[in-house]
Amino acid sequence: MSTTVGDLLRIKGSKVETIAAGDPLLEAIRRMSGKHIGCLAVATKGGKLSGIVSERDVLWKIVAAGKSPKTQTVKDAMTPLKQMKTVSPSESVEECMALMTGRRHRHLPVLDDGKLVGLISIGDVVKFMLDAQQATIQSLEKYITGTF
Ligand SMILES: NC(=O)c1ccc[n+]([C@@H]2O[C@H](COP(=O)([O-])OP(=O)(O)OC[C@H]3O[C@@H](n4cnc5c(N)ncnc54)[C@H](O)[C@@H]3O)[C@@H](O)[C@H]2O)c1
Repeated sequence: MSTTVGDLLRIKGSKVETIAAGDPLLEAIRRMSGKHIGCLAVATKGGKLSGIVSERDVLWKIVAAGKSPKTQTVKDAMTPLKQMKTVSPSESVEECMALMTGRRHRHLPVLDDGKLVGLISIGDVVKFMLDAQQATIQSLEKYITGTF
């Protein structure tokens, strides 16, 4: 049975750092920098997801366009929900990896019945898969050497 996004969230944690669309973009950049993360989920006060804002959004849509993050809001840089992919807790980690590499998404919000319940990054998926492969190698080594 393949490992699911829900399993990954149980290890990684389900807390999501969010910001409101109307907040200053500089506030979003400072939050990402302070927490050492590459994106924030954009959500309403009620927790409804409307998109994400990432460091790449800021660089490509604001800095490269000659605009100043000091005068822009999160809404000016964010990627709206309709332009991105989300996953559910029951989806497999392999499906997430395929989505992320195929569509070049670094982050996937996790929605359960429309409710934001987590966020996973490409780094989470790669780490998870490397750990799983390491565990398989170790158990095969034990099997081969008879050291169960
Ligand atoms: N050692 C680990 O467990 C681990 C896990 C993930 C990433 N990383 C490393 O961090 C670096 C950058 O990682 P990345 O490109 O995957 O993305 P990233 O810098 O955005 O993510 C880093 C971590 O923060 C979490 N995160 C990001 N935005 C979040 C948000 N809004 N709310 C809650 N959690 C959030 C991610 O899920 C991930 O665990 C890479 O060097 C990667 O290898 C390490």
